[in-house]
Amino acid sequence: MWDVRAQSWSSRPNSAEIASGPCHTAPVGTLAYSDERLAELYDLLNRWGPSDDFYLDLVMSAGSVLDVGCGTGVLLHRARTSHHTGRLSGLDPAAAMLAQAHRYPDIEWALGDLTNTAWRQEFDLVIMTGHAFQELRSEEQIRTSLATVREALTDGGRFAFETRNPAARAWEQWTPDNAVEVIDAAGDVVRVEHRVETPVDEDVVHFTETFTSTSWHRPKVSHSSLRFLDPGSLSNYLADAGLVVEEQFGDWARDPLSAASAEIITIARRSPKAG
Ligand SMILES: C[S@@+](CC[C@H](N)C(=O)[O-])C[C@H]1O[C@@H](n2cnc3c(N)ncnc32)[C@H](O)[C@@H]1O
Repeated sequence: MWDVRAQSWSSRPNSAEIASGPCHTAPVGTLAYSDERLAELYDLLNRWGPSDDFYLDLVMSAGSVLDVGCGTGVLLHRARTSHHTGRLSGLDPAAAMLAQAHRYPDIEWALGDLTNTAWRQEFDLVIMTGHAFQELRSEEQIRTSLATVREALTDGGRFAFETRNPAARAWEQWTPDNAVEVIDAAGDVVRVEHRVETPVDEDVVHFTETFTSTSWHRPKVSHSSLRFLDPGSLSNYLADAGLVVEEQFGDWARDPLSAASAEIITIARRSPKAG
């Protein structure tokens, strides 16, 4: 049995992710997020890691924060228990994930995404963690979402998020050989395996996650697609939206972004002018 804490098969990425597997990101309607039983497994499969520490620092130094694709709400909950006294809001399109977040009542939780919600200069910081940004797959979805982020930010407010660097080809590690197992709340072992649709010849990677448990009649298979934007395309989208890249890192130790970096971690500031 794998020790999930030692695994990097997590939505909260760490520097070892490339070596052992995918983060648990998937599109709206994806079973991994829409199924209550699978949403209950999310925090077991995605333990607190270096990326959470990175974002927690940013959250603690911002007065008001919007976490887009907040999932089960662990990060904002940690901020609250660390005595963040300002406004903390979480947005997610998956009701089953938000049901987990609702365990924490001292935070505003909203069902939706950046194409169907709007705020006017209400947040000092908007974040998208756990590779939630890669859920934005079409050009229109990316542009609309970034415009909503800019509109939601106060003057000088910042947008922090990460996306996997396509040059590192993380999906090549998303194989059944790197399956993980966790013990669910009932004490049963649940195994999770990934399979990528090949060949991967565009920047959207399609894959399945198969969840099996001896206590279930049949496996649950979740279909996912994630977009891998290269640094140049990402910068263009941000600039077009009126978001100026302030800092960019290639890992959670804040090393500079390089061609071989696993992650493209970006902190962008709202520019006075819309793109
Ligand atoms: C891998 S989880 C990340 C959750 C959390 N941010 C974390 O770090 O653990 C990805 C989340 O993105 C959400 N999501 C899917 N499509 C989205 C979209 N278009 N906009 C915002 N969030 C989305 C999913 O429902 C899921 O909760």
